[in-house]
Amino acid sequence: MTALHPFVIQGDICYSTSPQTVETVENGYLVCEEGRCAGVFRDLPQSCRDLPQIDCVGQLVVPGLVDLHVHAPQYAFRGLGMDLELLEWLNTHTFPEESKYGDADYADQAYRRFVRDVAQGPNTRACIFGTIHTEATIHLMDLLEEAGLCTMVGKVNMDRNSPDSLRETDAQASAAATADWLRRIEGRYAHTAPILTPRFIPSCTDELMEELHRLQSRLHLPVQSHLSENQGEIAWVKELCPQARHYGDAYHRFGLFGGEGCPTIMAHCVYSDGDELSLMKEQQVFVAHCPASNTNLSSGIAPVRRFLNEGIPVGLGSDVAGGTHTSIFRAMADAIQVSKLRWRLVDASLPPLTAAEAFYLGTAGGGAFFGQVGAFAPGWEFDAIVIDDSRYTPAGGLSLMDRLERSIYLCDERDLRHKFVQGRQLF
Ligand code: GUN
Ligand code: FE
Repeated sequence: MTALHPFVIQGDICYSTSPQTVETVENGYLVCEEGRCAGVFRDLPQSCRDLPQIDCVGQLVVPGLVDLHVHAPQYAFRGLGMDLELLEWLNTHTFPEESKYGDADYADQAYRRFVRDVAQGPNTRACIFGTIHTEATIHLMDLLEEAGLCTMVGKVNMDRNSPDSLRETDAQASAAATADWLRRIEGRYAHTAPILTPRFIPSCTDELMEELHRLQSRLHLPVQSHLSENQGEIAWVKELCPQARHYGDAYHRFGLFGGEGCPTIMAHCVYSDGDELSLMKEQQVFVAHCPASNTNLSSGIAPVRRFLNEGIPVGLGSDVAGGTHTSIFRAMADAIQVSKLRWRLVDASLPPLTAAEAFYLGTAGGGAFFGQVGAFAPGWEFDAIVIDDSRYTPAGGLSLMDRLERSIYLCDERDLRHKFVQGRQLF
């Protein structure tokens, strides 16, 4: 997995060239050199004829999918408590489950299952929440590194409004544990990186946010959290932070809301509008749109078309266990479906997402958080999956775009033939 030899994949190649356009090359050649894409060709250039070739003729070759928001410790209880709304679901199921990750054996078993299943699926990249526990989070990072995935992982910070078993003593203890975690993983990984993870405003005191801001300024780490997911949550944030102009401002006041040197992902943004949306645009805060979670927890439907129109960066998140499935193909289909309901029932001025747009969100849209990732442009990092769609699409008759659309709805692990992350072949 270490030597990055050049190679060629021959197959039916699809990738986004803009949010609205998918480039399709039937029976083409995709060249990988030193972990990066060297180009997509209709005819193989002379200079590449001696490279090893992987024959995927008749199969779809697409960029690896990107999960911008997932909770690894919640994988073990997915599909439970789906009759509850966010705050009740957190207290009833999520916090008790996450408390168990202080136990190394429990964490080992649960995290092995999570990593194995993600590694076998179509996602190549993910931004992942762990828990407050340092040992378990480092173990999760070790497992992800070993699996070959490219991820950002956060030890979660929480110092208020949660049970004793899932709350750090105070802001200083939480910040010290985070600094200790960062010291212990320094230089340890090639493709697993830390990301600062204040859980959400209700879980973090002002003092903790100040401490995290100090760490962020010193180490220039990216940040991930939750924003404007649920009406009850938003009302609570207003009470907790009366000085903040809006929920986003509660992060921004502490310098933890995007901008130069502070790449930030906010999950959900179902109710972001007005000044909050303007600030997100100004600060280029990434939205992780999590349609399954927003449906399961009755949170609402985020205005993704608006984010796209306004130039706010946006990708997709599974948000397991608010969502039940890790596959970002599933999130693409969910995103299209909820956008139709929003268009029909909420706002006729925002047309539903197309298959091309959902594919963009789940590849290049989220990939942008990692750099040049999520499309087969020359020089971009080489993440690819190969799909044998013959189980659901008989040979002949359909365009590549039609086959891609069907794969969004129908592809699962059974159909994956190969997976590459940064040029490394996982299978
Ligand atoms: N807000 C704070 N924590 C969580 C979480 O674990 N899941 C979701 N969906 N929202 C949150
Ligand atoms: Fe979440």
